[in-house]
Amino acid sequence: MQALLCLGLGLTLLVAQYAPGTAAPSSECRRWCGDVEIPYPFGIDPGCSFGKDFDISCKVQDGITKPFKYTLEVLSISLTNSTARVLNNIMGYCYNNSTTSMEEFGNSMVVDEISPAPSFPYRLSDIHNKFTVIGCNALAFMSDTDDTGTGYQAYGVASCRGLPDLQDRSCSGIGCSQTMIPKKMRSYYTDFFKSVNTSKIWEFNRCSYAVLMETTGFNFSTSYISNTVFNDTYLGRVPMVIDWAIRNVSSCEDAQWNNMGTYACLSNNSKCVNSTNHLGYTCSCIPGYDGNPYLLDGCIDVNECKKDHQCPSDGFCHNTDGGHWCSCRRGKVYVYESKTCNTDTKFIIGVTIGLFGLIVIIMATIFWGQLICQKRKLNKVKLEYFRQHGGMILFDKLKSEKGLAFKVFSEDELIHATNNFDNSRILGRGGNGTVYKGILKDKMSVAVKRCALADERQKKEFGQEIIILSQINHKNIVKLLGCCLEVEVPILVYEFVLNGTLFELIHGKNHLKISFNTLLRIVHEAAEGLSFLHSYASPPIIHGDVKSSNILLDNNYMAKVSDFGTSILAPSDKEQFVTIVQGTCGYLDPEYMQTCQLTDKSDVYSFGVILLEILTGQLPLKLEGSETQRSLSLVFLCAMKNNNLDDMLASHVKSEESMELLTGLADLAKQCLDMHGINRPSMKEVADELNKLRKLSVHPWLQLDMEANAESLLGGEPTSGHEIELSGYTIGENENQPINPRSSYYAK
Ligand SMILES: *[C@@H]1O[C@H](CO)[C@@H](O)[C@H](O)[C@H]1NC(C)=O
Ligand SMILES: *[C@@H]1O[C@H](CO)[C@@H](O)[C@H](O)[C@H]1NC(C)=O
Ligand SMILES: *[C@@H]1O[C@H](CO)[C@@H](O)[C@H](O)[C@H]1NC(C)=O
Ligand SMILES: *[C@@H]1O[C@H](CO)[C@@H](O)[C@H](O)[C@H]1NC(C)=O
Ligand SMILES: *[C@@H]1O[C@H](CO)[C@@H](O)[C@H](O)[C@H]1NC(C)=O
Ligand SMILES: *[C@@H]1O[C@H](CO)[C@@H](O)[C@H](O)[C@H]1NC(C)=O
Ligand SMILES: *[C@@H]1O[C@H](CO)[C@@H](O)[C@H](O)[C@H]1NC(C)=O
Ligand SMILES: *[C@@H]1O[C@H](CO)[C@@H](O)[C@H](O)[C@H]1NC(C)=O
Ligand SMILES: *[C@@H]1O[C@H](CO)[C@@H](O)[C@H](O)[C@H]1NC(C)=O
Repeated sequence: MQALLCLGLGLTLLVAQYAPGTAAPSSECRRWCGDVEIPYPFGIDPGCSFGKDFDISCKVQDGITKPFKYTLEVLSISLTNSTARVLNNIMGYCYNNSTTSMEEFGNSMVVDEISPAPSFPYRLSDIHNKFTVIGCNALAFMSDTDDTGTGYQAYGVASCRGLPDLQDRSCSGIGCSQTMIPKKMRSYYTDFFKSVNTSKIWEFNRCSYAVLMETTGFNFSTSYISNTVFNDTYLGRVPMVIDWAIRNVSSCEDAQWNNMGTYACLSNNSKCVNSTNHLGYTCSCIPGYDGNPYLLDGCIDVNECKKDHQCPSDGFCHNTDGGHWCSCRRGKVYVYESKTCNTDTKFIIGVTIGLFGLIVIIMATIFWGQLICQKRKLNKVKLEYFRQHGGMILFDKLKSEKGLAFKVFSEDELIHATNNFDNSRILGRGGNGTVYKGILKDKMSVAVKRCALADERQKKEFGQEIIILSQINHKNIVKLLGCCLEVEVPILVYEFVLNGTLFELIHGKNHLKISFNTLLRIVHEAAEGLSFLHSYASPPIIHGDVKSSNILLDNNYMAKVSDFGTSILAPSDKEQFVTIVQGTCGYLDPEYMQTCQLTDKSDVYSFGVILLEILTGQLPLKLEGSETQRSLSLVFLCAMKNNNLDDMLASHVKSEESMELLTGLADLAKQCLDMHGINRPSMKEVADELNKLRKLSVHPWLQLDMEANAESLLGGEPTSGHEIELSGYTIGENENQPINPRSSYYAK
């Protein structure tokens, strides 16, 4: 029992010795013998090879260390080719002239002398070797006997008539012949046919030679025929190639499935390869790896980039585990098929598009920048105007007096309200500007006056005066709602008054239906309004363009003096008088024409012309009349001088009112029309006089209700609670609008 156990243990140990992992040789194993590397599965020291068949003996011969397998000197061992190069002895057959007989030398038997087992790892390489015979009368054979006993025999024959027949490097029968051998040969035996000898030709060819040798590196030389011994660097020996493999299993499958315990391909990234020469297998590293597949981790990644021509010279090489890849410079693309760097059209298109996009973006940025710049400039200009017009003062005022019903409009707001100052929105054109109907965002209708005056206007402290105007709150004065200062010439925004003008009432188609009494009341109201204007501030606010078409009428035919603000736009510096004349023809104060100095008495003169209009029902200026008849005021003054008033009065007026009233009115008009302003009554006096005259009216009952109300408010302080109702505003949209011959003076 104990003996059996021991035996079993011994077997186990034996198996363990060759199990994968433990089979790996220790690092103390010698791997070099002289100049020759001995890689695993071969080994020099015990336990350093895959098996005893792979043992190599390292011997010192003539002072040089050389490896040997059996009797053969090993030149090199290749793992990739699974080959070993050894030195093989040349067999010679020579004539000895002293003994006059043929002599043989060299080994006739190669590799092993006993017929080996099939698991014997070595086979004579059929690919790399050829049976070579040299001589001019030589016939040799080689033979082997395999394990089954069936032999193989090959013949090599070489002959010639003499040296001239021979040719260097030619080995095809004349002096030299080479014969292929089959696979599976484990050993060979060679000999010469004795009856084919050099006894007759010994004088130029003493010896014949026969050897199985590596074909690469062999060149036939004619000297081999004449030389005594066919020799080379190996002293009567030549290289021969041996295929080795692990042959105690029949194939890779056999090794991997049936004999896993002794499977030799241990490394990762290794593979099993069937032996190409007889049974068995070898191992190799898979492509991309190099090294020893028989060792754990023996196959190592090949850095292909270190080799030449893996990638195009103008490209880049990138090594990966088991491979590599190529890339090219920007703008080029790697073409795998041709292994070149070609121009990348997609990249170029991309770059082009990118550049184009960049240019577009840059241009857009510049454009945008310019736009912003322009806008800023514009805003700056607007702000400059605003400042020049005294907008800052206005702002401060508005801030401090929160209750003020006054608004500073932006230019955009007004452009929007008037549909960009559209012609269809024009309510009227005057000597000093154009009035547009505007609709504000809250649907409120307003009258927007855009003054035609230009030049030095903005230098005036407009804002300061606008504040005063905005505070005027009188029932007979159109309310100033706001202004716009950020334009060159300020724009004024008034309440919108609906029911036409006094001008239309007097000169319109329906003038007969209006009682004189009503006209008188309207004129009185206008006078109250103007009087209020004159008395409101010091120096007095001068209307500057008093005329019947500037006296608007609201729903109740109550007078509202309009267009008063523009007078403040008039220049005060004398240089401007030539081009800028305030007022309307027919109403113009003759003194103003001479002095260019607008005073409150200029308004009184113009008001006198209105009185004439209601008395006579005539236009202040008749263009069709003769030169002396042209001006109503001149004609009237003339008539008064000649006591001819009766002729001047309109017929319906005469029939309607008492002569006392009419004479009184005519007298008042005459005073107003005095050539010298000093002699004219003040507006307050005119209003008072009108109030007095109205009481002489024969039809006081025809008067409208408003009278009583108006009375109480005359001269009274404006109260903040007294808001003028915003109903409508019209400045003669019809043909009755007076023609202003001076309009052309303001052409831009
Ligand atoms: C093959 O040979 C090796 C080394 O000589 C040995 O370890 C292994 O057991 C053998 N395998 C077979 C199936 O004979
Ligand atoms: C393997 O064989 C090829 C020819 O088949 C040869 O060129 C190469 O040098 C051999 N490699 C080694 C390491 O002997
Ligand atoms: C020829 O034979 C003789 C006698 O055996 C021997 O001594 C001599 O070395 C031989 N010559 C050659 C060239 O082999
Ligand atoms: C044998 O041949 C050699 C070379 O040709 C010559 O030198 C020698 O004398 C010869 N010997 C005899 C015995 O003929
Ligand atoms: C050489 O060959 C001839 C025949 O060609 C033969 O008669 C002779 O005996 C041979 N010589 C030797 C030494 O075998
Ligand atoms: C054999 O001859 C060829 C052709 O002349 C030459 O290229 C080659 O180098 C020679 N080889 C040897 C080993 O001399
Ligand atoms: C080859 O033979 C010649 C003549 O026999 C000899 O002189 C030469 O040394 C030999 N070559 C080598 C490498 O031994
Ligand atoms: C070898 O492969 C095995 C399994 O695939 C893995 O576990 C091991 O880490 C690998 N070794 C190396 C050195 O890559
Ligand atoms: C190896 O050889 C066996 C039998 O000869 C065959 O079945 C198998 O396919 C071969 N394997 C490879 C990888 O060539």
